[in-house]
Amino acid sequence: MASCAWSRSSRVRSTAVIRLLRVVPIPERVGAASSGEISEVGEVLVGAEDLKRRVRELGEAISRDYAGRPLLLVGVLKGAVFFLSDLMRFIDIPVEVDFMAVASYGSATDSSGVVRILKDLDVAIEGRDVLIVEDIVDSGLTLQYLLRNLGSRNPATLEVCALLTKPDRRKVDLPTRYVGFEIPDRFVIGYGLDYAERHRNLPFVAVLER
Ligand code: IMP
Ligand code: MG
Repeated sequence: MASCAWSRSSRVRSTAVIRLLRVVPIPERVGAASSGEISEVGEVLVGAEDLKRRVRELGEAISRDYAGRPLLLVGVLKGAVFFLSDLMRFIDIPVEVDFMAVASYGSATDSSGVVRILKDLDVAIEGRDVLIVEDIVDSGLTLQYLLRNLGSRNPATLEVCALLTKPDRRKVDLPTRYVGFEIPDRFVIGYGLDYAERHRNLPFVAVLER
């Protein structure tokens, strides 16, 4: 009897799995950001496996460098959320997380350097070891503003961890202690990076096709 009941429930389970797989065929899922505009997703610059490997390396380096010093990660909303949540899982020392949201005036693809704080930190950072986690450093103007702003609050240390950097676009020279990948001067989407709020959910970094 018991084995009969087991095999019936196992049959039910596998039918459910097959149904779930049928709901979202893979090709649609990969291209479909909220608007379903597959044509905006161009050449893949950093694949999912390379992202995972590099994020693990960064997490391990941060764990080594900050051993014995409780660390505060400051994620810059919204783009860094995806990188930050993966990065944290590879950090094996005590770590806290907080977020800032900033708006940088400019066009859809260029920031002007005029930055407004939309959401400030919840905690004071005086005397703390702080690591800013950014999705991408492009002109560097947003990060320059953040470094000045947070630096004026007297943290013990203030460093930067950026997943991507575009050295050819840099307008200001900035100390970025941890960098995932250097990429060419292309506008990219995926793994948190958006174009008009679309494509953050792609599991890889690709060039925006326009
Ligand atoms: P920056 O002030 O020019 O360095 O720009 C920083 C911000 O612009 C990043 O945090 C991103 O939100 C956005 N950004 C810059 N380049 C790209 C890109 O290629 N794709 C998506 N967002 C970008
Ligand atoms: Mg953005």
